[in-house]
Amino acid sequence: MAEQNIYILGIESSCDDTAASVIENGRILSNIVANQKIHEEYGGVVPELASRAHQQNIVPVVAQALKKANITKDQLHAIAFTRGPGLMGSLLVGTSFAKSLAYGLDIPLVDVNHMQGHILAHFIDEEGFNKPPFPFLAMTISGGHTQIVQVDNYFDMTVIGETIDDAVGEAFDKSGKILGLGYPAGPEIDKRAKLGNPKAFKFTKPRVDGLNFSFSGLKTAILYFIQNQTKANPNFIEENLNDICASIQYTIIGILIDKLKLATKQTGITHIAIGGGVSANSGIRQALKDGEQKFGWTTYVPKFEFTTDNAAMIAIVGYLKYLDGDFAEQNVAASARLKI
Ligand code: KG4
Ligand code: ZN
Repeated sequence: MAEQNIYILGIESSCDDTAASVIENGRILSNIVANQKIHEEYGGVVPELASRAHQQNIVPVVAQALKKANITKDQLHAIAFTRGPGLMGSLLVGTSFAKSLAYGLDIPLVDVNHMQGHILAHFIDEEGFNKPPFPFLAMTISGGHTQIVQVDNYFDMTVIGETIDDAVGEAFDKSGKILGLGYPAGPEIDKRAKLGNPKAFKFTKPRVDGLNFSFSGLKTAILYFIQNQTKANPNFIEENLNDICASIQYTIIGILIDKLKLATKQTGITHIAIGGGVSANSGIRQALKDGEQKFGWTTYVPKFEFTTDNAAMIAIVGYLKYLDGDFAEQNVAASARLKI
């Protein structure tokens, strides 16, 4: 007898992207994301506006995900949703919607940790992408998080290092703000870094013990550097923008790679996966590839569409939990600081 296909709807609303995805077993049938442009003019995510936009987007986004997948809601086996971590007002929209839909359809509800989603996105079936073997190290790098996680099995994960202040994406975005770039500045810095000299300017790396990270000192160092330079030459930023971007990116990547080197040394694990918005960065992707030659690593870099927040990563976790029979009760509540 042929095995039954399992259809899972994943819903993600933890920050400023409203997303829905349908997967059939481990394969994606649809992956819809509505970005919220409204935050650009404020230079950062405004929580109140984010929850309002989720409220407007969620029904059309879910409807589009079902339509693109070419299935009806009655064919779904479970609804998976992001329970946390994230912005409370944003999480509440996805959580309430998922609960109501699962209740109405009388199918299981699966709660998903957003950070586990970034990591387990590597288990989506995609041609040309290998799945990491257990145990592996996952480095999640985004605007909201910076962690190194030891992954012993799908749901056996231990955070072995994390930022004590800013996330790495914030380091990109705040540096960009100092340089007068738009929000989020990560992609623009990446683009300009390709045209500049990474060793033009030197920024000292923070000293943080063990596997933890710190990025707030770097931001301050960049601010003082720019203030001093523009005092001497008001056109300093325009005349050196590509070199400044390349030097900032080079410093940030150096910090990440140093910690990965230490993590592989401490754990003896050399399979390394990355996830989160900053894993789209071309410099970190290259540095990981170089690590294969230099340090004997095997690295796993996600497809671009799974780097930033998306619902396919929530759906795949939903599928894995569904197979385990690990369901949520209807009284489950969103949790802004949910831990791995
Ligand atoms: O995962 P994500 O979409 O949202 C969360 O923060 O959870 O990550 C967004 C972050 C932003 O800080 C953005 O500047 C950064 O990812 N980012 C990049 C690049 N693309 C996005 N940073 C550096 N280089 C990039 N190419
Ligand atoms: Zn994220």
